Amino acid sequence: MLLIEDATEKVLEELEATQKQFWNVARETGNFLNMLIKMNKVQNALEIGTSNGYSGIWLALALKETCGRLITIEFYEKRQSVAVENFKRCGLDGIITSKVGDACIILEYLKEDELFDFVFMDASKPQYLDYFKLIKPHLKKGGLICADNVTSHAAKVQPFLDAVNNDSDFQTEILPLPAGLSVSYRLK
Ligand SMILES: C[S@@+](CC[C@H](N)C(=O)[O-])C[C@H]1O[C@@H](n2cnc3c(N)ncnc32)[C@H](O)[C@@H]1O
Repeated sequence: MLLIEDATEKVLEELEATQKQFWNVARETGNFLNMLIKMNKVQNALEIGTSNGYSGIWLALALKETCGRLITIEFYEKRQSVAVENFKRCGLDGIITSKVGDACIILEYLKEDELFDFVFMDASKPQYLDYFKLIKPHLKKGGLICADNVTSHAAKVQPFLDAVNNDSDFQTEILPLPAGLSVSYRLK
């Protein structure tokens, strides 16, 4: 586990008290995503499904070290404003752009030259396949797509897993983290 400075640790622990209410990832998943970003020296990360910002804090803590940036998308304005406040409390707001709206619409209207080397999908489970199709043209070779809840919501995410497993551009594995995390590496 990562040792985190006191003020940020306090925010993470506070958010863990309401983890079920805000559907946050487990701490182990946050820690693993943080490691992946650092190991891959990620520069441009995208999160689909911000909620109150818990996972975004883990992603941005790593991006601070890689000098990267995070775009995170949330449907509900109320949750997004809580997330923005939490990012500020951790001093991470400078590297996070928080967008409010339907991820499918926001992704459809991304500029052609907007490219990512890391994507974390954690919004509506039946929409994972749509997010995958929309994000693929914006994912660099060598980039990663991580998706949470692939075992806890197996049936709902199966169309996405089928698509990515049958796509020769990707190599995928599912990790036994609390809700099941898939990691897909873009080969070409
Ligand atoms: C599982 S929670 C995200 C938890 C967050 N990643 C964390 O671990 O702290 C999913 C969030 O995605 C949002 N969401 C669902 N469908 C969405 C969509 N189509 N576009 C944007 N946000 C969406 C929900 O409002 C919810 O806050």
